[in-house]
Amino acid sequence: MMMCVRPTVHTPAALRWALLLSRFSRASSTSSSAPGGPTAGNEQVQHVIAVASGKGGVGKSTVAVNLAVALAQRGLRTGLLDADVYGPSVPAMMGVEGKPELTADGRLMIPKTGHEGVKVMSVGLLLPGKAEGDKHGDQPVVWRAPLALKLLDQMVRQVDWGPLDIMVIDMPPGTGDIQLSMSQRVSLSGALVVSTPQEIALLDARKAVNMFRRVDVPVLGFVENMNRFVCSKCGEEEYIFGSDGLQADALRLQVELLASIPLSTGLRKACDQGVPTVVSDPQGPVAHEFRELARKAFLNLGLHAGLAPHVQ
Ligand SMILES: Nc1ncnc2c1ncn2[C@@H]1O[C@H](COP(=O)(O)OP(=O)(O)OP(=O)(O)O)[C@@H](O)[C@H]1O
Ligand SMILES: [Mg+2]
Ligand SMILES: [Zn+2]
Repeated sequence: MMMCVRPTVHTPAALRWALLLSRFSRASSTSSSAPGGPTAGNEQVQHVIAVASGKGGVGKSTVAVNLAVALAQRGLRTGLLDADVYGPSVPAMMGVEGKPELTADGRLMIPKTGHEGVKVMSVGLLLPGKAEGDKHGDQPVVWRAPLALKLLDQMVRQVDWGPLDIMVIDMPPGTGDIQLSMSQRVSLSGALVVSTPQEIALLDARKAVNMFRRVDVPVLGFVENMNRFVCSKCGEEEYIFGSDGLQADALRLQVELLASIPLSTGLRKACDQGVPTVVSDPQGPVAHEFRELARKAFLNLGLHAGLAPHVQ
């Protein structure tokens, strides 16, 4: 792919964007972590993207993890923050575990380093193990908004993220108080909304779009997940929910449909094993779809920030 950058305005923001774009257009780099001592909070994080969904269980974490790793594969210094207070699954999907260590001065937590150098922090790493009286660890965690927000603040400001080009946040599913406040609390550069194509999920996806618009967060696009089944024997594709999927909603809401991820056994297995598909099967069609998602989401980020490059 060839990219040609034509900065029209020479504001610092435009120059920073051009720099970022030149890094993005470079072929994959193996290590994307940059040197740098402890930094105060998130001042050095350039862009923050939320991955959200109206409904739970639609594949939000799967998308967030693969997106983050795909961005890192393109050479961006990438962070992945799991803010899903209801079901933090990023550590398992990224294969990281253990309590975060502290910086030498004891002021900041050190994020875990996952695949492709992605820096990872998760609610799941901060919570104590099983609650007392919860022998099987299967009691739901009930959150009140102030506590959830406090935790989010800690993960953003009290973590040694270092300089990051981009941070991906796995948001809690839904469009309630917690999600709304979180969207306002972190200055988001944009949001992606993940949905399956069933009407019941779409209904909530629309709500998610409206929630972000209400707080002036640009919706960078829709990600349609599990929209079709691909037979592993003959390769035939079956559109279980009809082939329209999210397209009609995308048009009506003027949200770009950035990717359609098929139901994939390989994807599910890879997730369960803590290895994102873009790493475990980089040549496969699903990984290709995630890389396209990363490219389009990144470019839309520039468009919405008014820093649109000329891309060929
Ligand atoms: N395209 C897919 N093909 C096959 N399995 C998938 C696909 N997308 C997600 N899954 C599987 O579906 C389950 C739910 O996905 P995931 O955890 O990413 O959803 P979520 O929206 O983050 O859920 P939650 O609301 O619980 O956080 C996981 O087991 C995941 O591996
Ligand atoms: Mg999840
Ligand atoms: Zn078949």
